[in-house]
Amino acid sequence: MALFRNLFDFVLNDNKLDEKLGLTEKQKRLVQNTWATIRKDEVSVGVTLVLAYFKQYPEAQKEFKPFKDVPLDELSKNKRFQAHCANIVATLGKLIEQMHDPELMEATLINFTEKHKNRGQTPKQFEELKQLMLELFPSLFGKQYTSDVQEAWKKTLDLIFTKINQVYAD
Ligand code: HEM
Repeated sequence: MALFRNLFDFVLNDNKLDEKLGLTEKQKRLVQNTWATIRKDEVSVGVTLVLAYFKQYPEAQKEFKPFKDVPLDELSKNKRFQAHCANIVATLGKLIEQMHDPELMEATLINFTEKHKNRGQTPKQFEELKQLMLELFPSLFGKQYTSDVQEAWKKTLDLIFTKINQVYAD
């Protein structure tokens, strides 16, 4: 009986909505667990993402002084580029880890968004990166990218990028 009660509690809690984030406990768990598997290699995940971004939006690369003139086919070997890619993935990872504390998550987001805002990056560039992430996720996550995982990630990215837009609007 106790076992069933525990199971019942687990299921109930799983469906509980976190009002501040707009995600259920299960959706948070799916995002955190799937992220944990790809973040093991933050350089290669970051390189895949940023390289695809530069391929689609070549003018964005020009904003990165340390590697603005490095040809695309040499970028993935460039250590300054790798370091930057790992930095992006680590920052995204911080947001994901901090989902248990939405105010902390928001503070982290404000920190990096304000730097980008002051440096001249635009909300449109963030939106383009978000769309690219959604396009790349099926191949990055592979088999674990089920429809539940997809929905949870879409909600999470909506949440993150809506807040980024708010920082720009303030
Ligand atoms: C959620 C998405 C993004 C995250 C998590 C992120 C993260 C970071 C981090 C952690 C840094 C280093 C600290 C800093 O100076 O701010 C950085 C630098 C930078 N980011 Fe982003 N970034 C994102 C999106 C973008 C986009 C869309 C652009 C558009 C081009 C961009 C352009 C830059 C530039 C130009 C720098 C400075 C690089 C340098 O000269 O060292 N970032 N980013």
